[in-house]
Amino acid sequence: MTELKLRPVREIVDGVQTLEGGGFPVRRPFPTERLDGVDPFLLLDQMGPVDWPPGEAIGAPDHPHRGFETVTYLLEGKLEHKDSKGNVAYLGPGDVQWMTAGSGVIHSEVPDAEFKRRGGRVHGFQIWVNLPARDKMMSPRYQDVPAADIPQAESEDGRVKVRVVAGESLGAQAVIDTRTPISFLHFTVKPGGSIDQPVPAEHNAMAYVFSGEARIGPESGAVREGQLAVFGPGEVVRIAVAPDAAGPAELLLLSGVPLNEPVARYGPFVMNTDQEIEQAITDYQQGRFGEIGV
Ligand code: FE2
Repeated sequence: MTELKLRPVREIVDGVQTLEGGGFPVRRPFPTERLDGVDPFLLLDQMGPVDWPPGEAIGAPDHPHRGFETVTYLLEGKLEHKDSKGNVAYLGPGDVQWMTAGSGVIHSEVPDAEFKRRGGRVHGFQIWVNLPARDKMMSPRYQDVPAADIPQAESEDGRVKVRVVAGESLGAQAVIDTRTPISFLHFTVKPGGSIDQPVPAEHNAMAYVFSGEARIGPESGAVREGQLAVFGPGEVVRIAVAPDAAGPAELLLLSGVPLNEPVARYGPFVMNTDQEIEQAITDYQQGRFGEIGV
């Protein structure tokens, strides 16, 4: 058997603190001045963690999307999702909503009424995945997957746990269907734990650490909470946590086949040409995305 090549870490990027939606604090590794995106991923936001006093929690009120997918992965809190197709969904800890906006939806993502009244902690992720030109105008599609249905697996020594949102890891296979090949893995690695995760050579790959400190790549370089490691070419990603680390590390390992298509981007619309962006704005202004019912 030939040895699989370990992917080197090509660069490490610090997430930037910013405000999203109605003023929600996020940590954003991209898009920023430093890093535009990692094809096919357009945006990676760590939402919070933020502790809202009673009555003050906010989210992202009504806004449109066209031409890509939004993935919401909640770790703490409770969100209410409504959209122009008449869908209403509630997301709690560990739940995933994989929304394919396609030709267009208007949606709102806000704390649910009870959560807002009481206050509490919101922590999670929002990720934008680009769609290939052939799928940009497809009918919108939703995959709401409750935490209990997200496959999980553990290494033999019990030091590495994974939740498989998309793709495959430690023998567990995702239930979510993606338009192009994507892997979305949430690892929790205890001190002394280590994993060599296969990532197909044709994927772009990255790891975002959101708790603790991981040792990543063939050099076992330190990647701290709030940092994104972008990998170079290879077939395997090595993730470990030092035996003397203060606690476990948590991270998302994201990868996907790049689309290698032109990207025309304007706020919540991501198309291939400027003309398609103008069309999206016109369609939205003329009410062709529908509206959210009351
Ligand atoms: Fe949105």
